[in-house]
Amino acid sequence: MSADPALVAAINRLRKERNAVILAHYYQEPAIQDIADFIGDSLELSRKAASTAADVIVFCGVHFMAETAKILSPEKTVVLPDLDAGCSLADDCAADEFARFRAEHPDHLVVSYINCTAAVKAQSDLICTSSNAVDLVNQLPADRPILFAPDQNLGRWVQRQSGRELTLWPGRCIVHETFSEEAVLRLKLENPQAEVIAHPECLENLLDLADFIGSTSKLLNYTQSSPSDTFIVLTEPGILHQMKQRVPDKTLIDVPGLDGCSCNACPYMRLNTLEKLRDCLETLSPQIAMDESLRSKAEAPIRRMLEMSR
Ligand code: 13P
Ligand code: SF4
Repeated sequence: MSADPALVAAINRLRKERNAVILAHYYQEPAIQDIADFIGDSLELSRKAASTAADVIVFCGVHFMAETAKILSPEKTVVLPDLDAGCSLADDCAADEFARFRAEHPDHLVVSYINCTAAVKAQSDLICTSSNAVDLVNQLPADRPILFAPDQNLGRWVQRQSGRELTLWPGRCIVHETFSEEAVLRLKLENPQAEVIAHPECLENLLDLADFIGSTSKLLNYTQSSPSDTFIVLTEPGILHQMKQRVPDKTLIDVPGLDGCSCNACPYMRLNTLEKLRDCLETLSPQIAMDESLRSKAEAPIRRMLEMSR
């Protein structure tokens, strides 16, 4: 279904008037991806937020992403179309409980996945995303033990890839843990030529079935670089919109959730709509605001990540 032309025109007029840049994650609805100035994975979006010359950043993604943009570009106005667009991983890791966890492991380096709040980032030595986690952990001194939070599934995968022992915080993504192993096995039988590609937030038994594992951007690029013509895609289905444009002649198979539910659409990401995007450009709200001492503490481990990422 194509977007309402009047709505699109209003967004285009407002983004010029506000000198705004619209950043969107691949899990946004197709109409938002189509109107964005830049689409990317968490790492690419952070880099863009840190380097943009715009006065206003409209972050079409979830709260921790917009918060990261504000941490990196405090002088900019950062708005999120729906302030309730959270993330189960960030919600599963309260700052005070995390402080207790750190206190129990005082000699550990703390590596936190970017899917966490600013208050958890501020207690971390290094931030990572799904696209650089293995590479960053490999760069840490071999004699230092590591705490990894908040995604235990990503942590387990990093552990296997790096050979480093990680002490894991028990968080999980409510979207990626719903994929059905039975459905993937059936799809593999029906499509023996297909490659299974998966986001590392999936459960270990699903990752064991994957031919390729990576961040959203890496999955997207892989559909282009692989000679395969069929892919069983184990991540949020918003990514299929870009995949269909990059590889229009290939077959992309979306995997249902447990019991055939469509719970593999992220309920937080999907709170953002074109109407809310227009409204936040109009009113410059809801804005991301943060205490300066928290912001500067959270900035240090993100900057470290950007410097260490190749
Ligand atoms: P990416 O960094 O791969 O874009 O992942 C973000 C995310 O929230 C996945 O659920
Ligand atoms: Fe968070 Fe999972 Fe949604 Fe990504 S897909 S934003 S990890 S709840």
